[in-house]
Amino acid sequence: MKKIAIIGAGGFGREVKMLIEQINKVDPQFEIVGFYDDKFFDAEINGLPYLGKVDDINRVRENLSIAISIADPHTKKSIVQLIKNNHIDFPNLIHPNVFIGTDEVVLGKGNIICAGVVITVNIKIEDFVILNLSCTVGHDTTVGSYSSFMPGVNISGEVVLQEGVYVGTGAKIINLLEIGQYTIIGAGAVVAKSLPSHCTAVGIPAKPIKFHN
Ligand SMILES: CC(C)(COP(=O)(O)OP(=O)(O)OC[C@H]1O[C@@H](n2cnc3c(N)ncnc32)[C@H](O)[C@@H]1OP(=O)(O)O)[C@@H](O)C(=O)NCCC(=O)NCCS
Repeated sequence: MKKIAIIGAGGFGREVKMLIEQINKVDPQFEIVGFYDDKFFDAEINGLPYLGKVDDINRVRENLSIAISIADPHTKKSIVQLIKNNHIDFPNLIHPNVFIGTDEVVLGKGNIICAGVVITVNIKIEDFVILNLSCTVGHDTTVGSYSSFMPGVNISGEVVLQEGVYVGTGAKIINLLEIGQYTIIGAGAVVAKSLPSHCTAVGIPAKPIKFHN
């Protein structure tokens, strides 16, 4: 059994604890040792200990897997850049009922793929991507590192999502589009045209309402 700790003791972090427990039911792989969080200091979270701040991971001296259970792409990236410790690895965590096609699907590392997700064929998912409950990713799509998809997002075929895209719950992205880096798509949006980087787009059809860093 590999020891694993979860970064983020909020709602999603506790759901990731459940995800790991579900993986273990089918194929026992992980001993969950606790949570790291910079803001949440309870002694115990859903029966597991609070282990410290994220920076404390750099003082770990035994092999430890880490699940970064933070949806915000900028925060995820800064956590990855902060952790400099050869004892740490970032496994892909894939719920046992996820359907992943066998043709040309490439996954990087540190991805969290929740129950009910379907990933079809010829798809590249880079690193530290979250696919929350019941998302679908269609053929010939690329998902850039640090992107996060909230529950029930549908991505059609041949979509390119650059680094750090956040897609709100229930949003749909139709085929042959490109979404620029660190763009935010609002819950329930239907994206019918490509979107530039660093904007927030909402509505049907989705239109940028603001630009940010
Ligand atoms: C799009 C989003 C990121 C915008 O957040 P924000 O930058 O704080 O923007 P605001 O809340 O100030 O909203 C700005 C305007 O957009 C509207 N708006 C916000 N979200 C919207 C959405 N999803 N669809 C349509 N309009 C939306 C607001 O009503 C507001 O309109 P107004 O200026 O006429 O009052 C956020 O509303 C959202 O949809 N987040 C996704 C949340 C989610 O999926 N969570 C899942 C957790 S598991």
